[in-house]
Amino acid sequence: MNIDGRHHRTIWPAADGVTVEVIDQTRLPHEIVVRQLASLADAADAIRTMVVRGAPLIGVTAAYGLALATREDASDEGIARALETLAATRPTAVNLRWALDRIAAALTAPEVNDRVAAAWCLAAEMADEDVATCRAIGEHGAALIREAHERTGRTVNVLTHCNAGWLATVDWGTALAPIYVAHDSGIPIHVWVDETRPRNQGAALTAFELGHHGVPHTILADNAGGHMMQHRRVDLCIVGSDRTTASGDVANKIGTYLKALAARDNGVPFYAALPSSTIDWSLDDGVSEIPIEERSAREVTHMTGRAETGAIVTVEIASPGSAAANPAFDVTPARLVSGIITERGVAPASREGLARLFPEWAEPR
Ligand code: MRU
Repeated sequence: MNIDGRHHRTIWPAADGVTVEVIDQTRLPHEIVVRQLASLADAADAIRTMVVRGAPLIGVTAAYGLALATREDASDEGIARALETLAATRPTAVNLRWALDRIAAALTAPEVNDRVAAAWCLAAEMADEDVATCRAIGEHGAALIREAHERTGRTVNVLTHCNAGWLATVDWGTALAPIYVAHDSGIPIHVWVDETRPRNQGAALTAFELGHHGVPHTILADNAGGHMMQHRRVDLCIVGSDRTTASGDVANKIGTYLKALAARDNGVPFYAALPSSTIDWSLDDGVSEIPIEERSAREVTHMTGRAETGAIVTVEIASPGSAAANPAFDVTPARLVSGIITERGVAPASREGLARLFPEWAEPR
């Protein structure tokens, strides 16, 4: 998608032929900085510190991380160590494990004699696939926005949480892809952007993306969504997901569950948009089975932003000495989800619904 009219992806092999470049998301929206990843350690650090983030982009970065690792040590032991390092970076996004399993299986196949070349080739293929998948999610989800427009005859107001746009993927995004497709096809649309404390991915990243693409939007304090729904100012909610169970429970950024409850109470359709690589077919009960990442208390007690002097500063916003808890994700049970928008279409949030779209995964792994 575009920054200042120029097309960008979030990750790409560098022109030097040996490193990978990414947009550093910890510096957005204030600065556009490209970071170079030259080693397995760089890739793992970029995922851990959220230089790159969002489930699909974490998966593709891990694939490139493994490609970088093969240059350091392409033996079975080297690959096993790299897998372990990358898998430990973030626990909730299942795309990470999906990408690592896929690339490890490909590299250790007996017919592969150049593991380095094979790893780079597969990482690039996975990046391209992610773009195509997200574009397809956009087409399927845009049909829901079009229906809402045809039903009401006015601008469609969509509420989204966190950042599930192109910055969370290689391009297009998941929850934002339908918004881009609808906007580009002339459907009048306005997006309510949850600020998404504590790291503010909505206010910082989603608003940045939508602004650069010319999509009308308004940032909302996280607690305002229920009120806006009660006052009929939201036509539908679309969020992303970091892991979705085979039964349709959706793990996503902390605060998503509260929006789903408010949506149900107010009769607002609530959709999750995700590639099938986000579905963990081995799980049934998201609340008890999905590991929820606990991040640093400092993300809650401190905030970083641009001061009036123009300098980027971090300030303490909480009472010094108080403890803070920081669960990074929550689980929205399938019963609160109106549908799951995937690259193959929109499925009911249920085992049967998802299995109908993805019969090859219908049996638990
Ligand atoms: O912690 P993050 O920023 O990696 O979390 C990402 C999210 O939770 C997004 O909302 C998104 O829906 C999942 S990735 C498309």
